Amino acid sequence: MTETIKPHGGTLINRIVAGEEREQLLKEAEQYKQIPVNAWTVSDLDLIGIGAFSPLNGFLEEKDYRSVLDRMRLADGTVWSIPIVLPVEEKLAAQLAVGDKAALIGEEDGIVYGILDVRSIYQIDQREEAVKVFKTDDLEHPGVQKLFSRPTTYVGGPIQVLNRPKPGKFQEFYFDPAETRQRFSQNGWKSVVGFQTRNPVHRAHEYIQKIAMEIVDGLFLNPLVGETKSDDISAEVRMKSYLVLLENYYPKQRTFLGVFPAAMRYAGPREAIFHAMVRKNYGCTHFIVGRDHAGVGDYYGTYEAQDIFKNFTAAELGITPLFFEHSFFCTKCGNMSTSKTCPHDKSHHMHLSGTKVRAMLREGICPPAEFTRPEVAKVLIEGMSDQLVQSQS
Ligand code: ADX
Repeated sequence: MTETIKPHGGTLINRIVAGEEREQLLKEAEQYKQIPVNAWTVSDLDLIGIGAFSPLNGFLEEKDYRSVLDRMRLADGTVWSIPIVLPVEEKLAAQLAVGDKAALIGEEDGIVYGILDVRSIYQIDQREEAVKVFKTDDLEHPGVQKLFSRPTTYVGGPIQVLNRPKPGKFQEFYFDPAETRQRFSQNGWKSVVGFQTRNPVHRAHEYIQKIAMEIVDGLFLNPLVGETKSDDISAEVRMKSYLVLLENYYPKQRTFLGVFPAAMRYAGPREAIFHAMVRKNYGCTHFIVGRDHAGVGDYYGTYEAQDIFKNFTAAELGITPLFFEHSFFCTKCGNMSTSKTCPHDKSHHMHLSGTKVRAMLREGICPPAEFTRPEVAKVLIEGMSDQLVQSQS
């Protein structure tokens, strides 16, 4: 077995409780105060539980929260850029005390997902969090909008997971970090590049993945399938598009598809750091950061999500970021390129915005093959017309 990269913070966290201990805790939880949690929090809870968010072993306590906001580090100095927090309605928080245990109950299904050991109850300033994490307090920003829709009291402390959320479809592509690490190792991969995406894989994505694949042993295609904004293409349609793409254009023995069941924050630069740390936990040695990674609208500069890595040393990061320029198809070169490799002017470069592509697909029009593989376009067109039918019925 090949040795894999060390998790962030040194140890892969495991807060999943099973067997008799779980039965016992479920019984005890009946006596605890209940905190209702939504699907986003259940996803965070589970990702903490399986170690995807190592070294976090729970929701951030105040000292860590403050430190993450102010210096992109936990209180002990470990790099961490996104607050993973548990907002609780003020009235309910007032009934909790440090030292209590609380049951985290799914607000939709009543399932006891976990137990929180309450160590910290604190008030936050949403505007401050918005400006520090998202670099804006504009309510048009989907991440800011989400933040402002939540309570301003946070409760932090270690968690234990008693029930795991059940994936709807594509169950076979859910792997915990311990499993991906094992698979990479079994494949004999010493180096693995992680690729985050919330989109179908277009030619630009394929291009940068394949450049990376020229220098590493394997590609971990790790699409985010948690909550995204409503106009992003659904995870289900995207999954079908990844499968058809991999089948037709990627070497099977050098690619691995597994989902990242996290919510999208749209925090651009800070989310790029977070995405990289998490992929390290899944066993990646390298991580791709292209143009406007995790960005939305015009809130971030094209390469801000790359520049932010300069704040940390290579040793602190552990995983090696691979930065890519904006990639496009050049009609004169007759292939994919970037400003680093193409001498031709913009009139030869094919540019299509995400909005334009989605509009084309909705109308059943295939984007040019230089932009999207025809097999992928077909799946997307079918998927989007199904979605349309469902939303109208
Ligand atoms: S993201 O929100 O998940 O980052 P997306 O799925 O579009 O969005 O991007 C996935 C990765 O590909 C990111 O690292 C992004 O920077 C990169 N990327 C997307 N489009 C391009 C492009 N045309 N050129 C270079 N990199 C790109």
